[in-house]
Amino acid sequence: MCHGEKGDGKGMMGAALVPSPRNFTCNAMMKDIPDGQLFWIIKKGSPGTGMMSFSGLSDDKVWQLIHYIRSLAR
Ligand code: HEM
Repeated sequence: MCHGEKGDGKGMMGAALVPSPRNFTCNAMMKDIPDGQLFWIIKKGSPGTGMMSFSGLSDDKVWQLIHYIRSLAR
């Protein structure tokens, strides 16, 4: 609903969010974001933005998500 079906940040709710949800398909942007930042943001959220914390996810699940997110960058 936020990052969109394709992970391009164009989810239904995403349009109303400032800043907008990260576009995971943009390799130019994603290649400069370290894994540690992705891990931190998923676990802790991004204060002041629509990105909430998914602190309930185990570390393994978050790393699996990061591998999936990285597979979206073209
Ligand atoms: C399990 C589900 C989700 C995952 C794995 C996820 C993952 C991420 C990641 C890794 C980033 C940060 C990228 C960076 O370092 O800049 C991010 C940013 C963001 N996400 Fe999500 N997200 C999820 C769900 C959502 C939902 C449901 C919303 C909206 C309610 C949302 C809104 C945002 C926004 C607005 C940002 C940009 C924050 C900023 O620029 O600092 N995300 N998300």
